[in-house]
Amino acid sequence: MPDKKIIAVVGATGAQGGGLVRAILADPNGGFAARALTRDVNSAKARELAKLGAEVVAADVDDPESVKKAFAGAYGAFCVTFFWAHFSPKKKWPTPKTWPRPPRPRG
Ligand SMILES: NC(=O)c1ccc[n+]([C@@H]2O[C@H](COP(=O)([O-])OP(=O)(O)OC[C@H]3O[C@@H](n4cnc5c(N)ncnc54)[C@H](OP(=O)(O)O)[C@@H]3O)[C@@H](O)[C@H]2O)c1
Repeated sequence: MPDKKIIAVVGATGAQGGGLVRAILADPNGGFAARALTRDVNSAKARELAKLGAEVVAADVDDPESVKKAFAGAYGAFCVTFFWAHFSPKKKWPTPKTWPRPPRPRG
């Protein structure tokens, strides 16, 4: 299907994001394509998603520029943060207001 809408998925190699990526890939006529964000595009899980048909791109939520680049051209984004990785309420994470926004489609 041409012109699929890209959904950028944070945490794509994990349980939450991985479920969404697989659901998108399992519905080839659904009109959406999955872009899987990961810190390591060469990990076994990332390679598995690529094999299934996902576009796998590097991004780290601690590096907003990398997330912005990974969101470029996307129609929408699925975002999770990773409190349990650091266990610190003091750490600043992107919030719904501060996540980079996928650019609005033109025209
Ligand atoms: N699983 C559940 O049932 C459940 C339910 C409710 C809420 N949650 C919450 O949802 C979030 C994700 O949970 P999960 O179970 O899907 O996690 P998970 O299976 O443990 O996977 C962790 C994911 O986080 C990504 N990640 C970690 N640090 C990252 C960073 N700095 N930048 C980009 N990606 C990063 C990892 O990607 P790479 O290693 O490939 O970069 C991986 O995809 C957590 O906050 C969890 O508490 C989970």
